[in-house]
Amino acid sequence: MTKITAAITSVQGYVPEGILSNQDLEKMVDTNDEWITSRTGIKERRLAAKGEALSDFGAKIVAGICEKRGIDPSEIDMIVVGSITGDYRFPSAANVICDKAGCVNAWGFDLSAACSGFLYALDVGRVYVENGTYKKIIVIGADVMSSIINYEDRATCIIFGDGGGGVLLEPNEDGLGIQDAILRSDGAGRQFLLQEVGGSKEPLTKDNIDERRHYVFQEGKTVFKHAVKNMAGVSAEIMERNNLTSDDVDWLVPHQANLRIIDATANRMGLTKEKVMVNIEKFGNTTAGTIPLCLWEWEEKLNKGDNLVLASFGGGFTWGAIYLKWAY
Ligand code: UT7
Repeated sequence: MTKITAAITSVQGYVPEGILSNQDLEKMVDTNDEWITSRTGIKERRLAAKGEALSDFGAKIVAGICEKRGIDPSEIDMIVVGSITGDYRFPSAANVICDKAGCVNAWGFDLSAACSGFLYALDVGRVYVENGTYKKIIVIGADVMSSIINYEDRATCIIFGDGGGGVLLEPNEDGLGIQDAILRSDGAGRQFLLQEVGGSKEPLTKDNIDERRHYVFQEGKTVFKHAVKNMAGVSAEIMERNNLTSDDVDWLVPHQANLRIIDATANRMGLTKEKVMVNIEKFGNTTAGTIPLCLWEWEEKLNKGDNLVLASFGGGFTWGAIYLKWAY
C-alpha cells in the first residue's frame, strides 16, 4: 500500500494594515530605532484595527486558501489554530472561523503553544491526514499580540506585532510533504515568558489589572539564551535524524523573534543567508504567525521537492522543528 504523507498544497498570509514603526515607539517608550534594529532586526510591525479579532484574520486566511486552491470552504474537514490570542477564552477561534468562513462541514480547535503554535498545529494536522481520517485540513498560526501587550513596557512592545497565515494540508502519494517532526516543551520555563493573570490560577481582578499583570511579561535575556540553544539544537537534530547536510536543506523557515536567534540557528545548520527566510523587519514577532507568514511571502520562490526545515522557540517553553518537502 502506498504511504500517505501530509503535504502543504496552498498557503495564505494576512497582516492588518496598521503600521507601528520604531519611530512611533520612540514617542511611546524610552527606546530608539538604532537599539531596536541592532538588537532585534525589527523596523516595523502591524497592528489590528479596533474590533479586528483573530477570527477575522482566520476567515481571510481560509478564504484566500480556498480561492487559490479552487475549492469551496464546505470541503474543509478540519481547522486547527495555533494561537494564544483567540477572540474569547471560549469558544475557540477555530469554532468562530468555521462560522465566518463558511466551513460548514468542518470542526476544529485552538492549540496554545505560543510561538510554537503553528508547528504544534501542523503536526496535529499531519496525523489526521496520514492516518486517512481527513483529506483537507487547514492549519493556521496567527496572533493579535497587540491585544495583550503593554505599550508602556519597552521590554515587550518593541518586539511583537499582529498577523499570521495558514496552509492547506492534503494527502500526497509521491512522498512529498511532512517528513519528520521533533516537538518539545519544558514548563519550567513558564516564569520567563507568560501572561501571568487572567487564567484559572489567578482570574482577572481590578488590582491585578492595575498592576498590569494581565499583559505579556518577558525576561528577554533568559528567553534569548534558551531560544538560541534550543531552536538551533532542534534544527541540527532534525537534520541529523534525516541525514540532511547543509547542501540538502533548501530553506530554513525560522520563527521570527530576533534576528540574532535566526542567525545563530542558520549558523549551526551551516546555511548561508540566501537560504533563510527573514521578514522580521516588516512584521516583528507575530508569535504563532511568523512561520506561515514566511511561507506565504516566499511561496513563489519555492519549488516542488525543495527541502524545508521549519523551526521555532517560544513561551512555555515550547520549541521544535519540522522537516518537509514542498509539494508544488
Ligand atoms: O518569540 C518567543 C520568544 N521570545 C524571544 O525569543 C525573545 C528573546 N529575547 C530577545 O529577543 C532579547 O532579549 C530582547 C530583544 C527582548 C532584549 O535584548 P537584549 O539584548 O537581551 O537586551 P537586555 O534586556 O539585556 O537589555 C540590554 C540593555 C539594558 O540596559 P543596561 O542595563 O545595559 O543599561 C536595558 O535596560 O538595553 C536596555 N533596553 C532597552 N534600551 C532601549 C532594554 N529594552 C530596551 C529598549 N530600548 N526597548
